[in-house]
Amino acid sequence: MDLAQLTRDLESLAEETAAALAAAANVAAVEALEVDVLGKKGRLTGVLRGIGALPPEDRPKVGAIANRVRNDIESQIAERRTGLGSAELDARLRTETIDVTMPGRPIRRGSLHPSLESMAEIARIFGQFGFVTYESPEVETDENNFQLLNIPTDHPARDLWDTLYVDIPGHLLRTHTSPGQIHLMRSVKPPIRALLPGRCFRYEAIDASHGSEFFQVEGLMVDEGTTLGDLRGLLEAFAHAMFGAGKRTRFRPGYYPFTEPSVAFDVECLVCGGPGCPACGRSGWMTILGAGMVHPVVLRNCGLDPERYQGFAFGMGPERIAMLRHRITDLRLFLENDLRFLGQFR
Ligand code: PHE
Repeated sequence: MDLAQLTRDLESLAEETAAALAAAANVAAVEALEVDVLGKKGRLTGVLRGIGALPPEDRPKVGAIANRVRNDIESQIAERRTGLGSAELDARLRTETIDVTMPGRPIRRGSLHPSLESMAEIARIFGQFGFVTYESPEVETDENNFQLLNIPTDHPARDLWDTLYVDIPGHLLRTHTSPGQIHLMRSVKPPIRALLPGRCFRYEAIDASHGSEFFQVEGLMVDEGTTLGDLRGLLEAFAHAMFGAGKRTRFRPGYYPFTEPSVAFDVECLVCGGPGCPACGRSGWMTILGAGMVHPVVLRNCGLDPERYQGFAFGMGPERIAMLRHRITDLRLFLENDLRFLGQFR
């Protein structure tokens, strides 16, 4: 191996490559050629392996020629690649025409679950009175769900809520959203105007009007000088917005350990207002929610002075509200996720 031979080899490599490039039919062929000639184990590297056998003074000369050849080949490859690439693109554009005026595939429109739709409407109406929505946990302590709400351990009032327990001592699945009242009054200073929507759980035999999983929306207002009259006026405005202006409403006495006095709130029956009605039985009234003035014991449990602060709370079932608004007669439909049912609320 001598300088002249190596130089000839390099030059013939350059020529062969130029010829092969001219013959390359497409970008893929150019890329294969690039690997074959310039790649790590390519032909250029093969030729340059001969450098080691040259006398030291000749080596830089071959190096210079090799660099020129490499640069040449590189720029020829780049040029050929671009040329072939745009030809290929042109060919593709000619064959793959797209009719941009064709209609697209329709996107099927979803809808809110009637429970959520109902909750959104409740939040919208109370939002107009300054009520802000909060969240509180589904797994609760016995303390928040019962004790601090004035329902002591072993108190018979616990029978009002058939409870599902979890295997963390002292914890359960909340049976109502009322423990949210405790979280709120312990973390937010009055004045409070809050809504606490969320999922609740009870150990129930499931039938047309009872589920083991359902939603509630809790309302809580705490301020100085809040009265039962304020509660009455607010609920009446809510009933009118939800069920129609001019609907008659009434309070009936009720019982909850955490409110005193406690009431049930009824709205004039939407369906017929008469005997034998499927919505109200025969009374002409539909019960919408339970409510009352926050019990002084509960206020004190949350560090609030009942001499200074008063409040009211209410709790309603959005499923029940949705049933009344849409004349649905079976609560189980809310949990079955049957699209024939759900698709009707658009
Ligand atoms: N937490 C009660 C229930 O689940 C409803 C309620 C809420 C009553 C707030 C009064 C005040 O039945």
